[in-house]
Amino acid sequence: MKNQQGIKSFVKRSKRLTSAQKLYLCNKNKNINYFTPNKIIDYFELFKNTNPCILDIGFGDGKLLVNIAKKYQEINFIGIEVYDSGIGNILKQISKENLYNLKITNFDAVEFLENNVNDISLDGISLFFPDPWPKKKHHKRRILNAKFLDLLSKKIKSGGFVKIATDWENYGNDIIETFEKNSKFEKTNDIDLFKFRPITKFEKRGITLGHKIFELSYKLK
Ligand SMILES: C[S@@+](CC[C@H](N)C(=O)[O-])C[C@H]1O[C@@H](n2cnc3c(N)ncnc32)[C@H](O)[C@@H]1O
Repeated sequence: MKNQQGIKSFVKRSKRLTSAQKLYLCNKNKNINYFTPNKIIDYFELFKNTNPCILDIGFGDGKLLVNIAKKYQEINFIGIEVYDSGIGNILKQISKENLYNLKITNFDAVEFLENNVNDISLDGISLFFPDPWPKKKHHKRRILNAKFLDLLSKKIKSGGFVKIATDWENYGNDIIETFEKNSKFEKTNDIDLFKFRPITKFEKRGITLGHKIFELSYKLK
């Protein structure tokens, strides 16, 4: 599925990969931390346990996701990213870790949620610094919109969370407004899991630019 206007939230550009990224990418299908979603995912089949499951959308270089997954091994994490370099990077980072609670996939999160995730099955969804598409003419590419929120509300269990951080003021305000218009969610305190998260590459860039960081946390009623 594309977004409301039939437009994707990303543009795939072929970025030069390092030899390590290439190596991990080529061997991804043999990697225990990687999976290809070709049907509705069965969390028990994937993780071999019934622990809560959180989806992190657009993990970028993967440092935050790996840090959180290592800290909370009693929680399962699925990381989804469209960029090959991100996939190669994260698989390299976890190659020596024996992390059984983290599974990675190389896919469009919107299509994945629509086609591969059961309704009322996730305990939480996080998006750290989603692409801001700062030019007004590109706002239609932003992943967070009313239709996407509606999709999230179907996939999360009651009491489950959506956590978003952004450093773009008008995107932050837009997200707040979109949640306010959706009666299924209510604002909540920051999610404990992420309280002491490491600063991401995009967050660092925002801070350098003097941007305020919006920490937005909502729960499904
Ligand atoms: C600005 S980066 C932020 C990366 C990371 N979360 C961080 O804070 O450093 C946004 C990421 O979202 C990914 N992305 C955008 N749309 C996506 C989609 N529909 N499905 C999966 N990943 C997506 C992009 O490839 C990009 O790596």
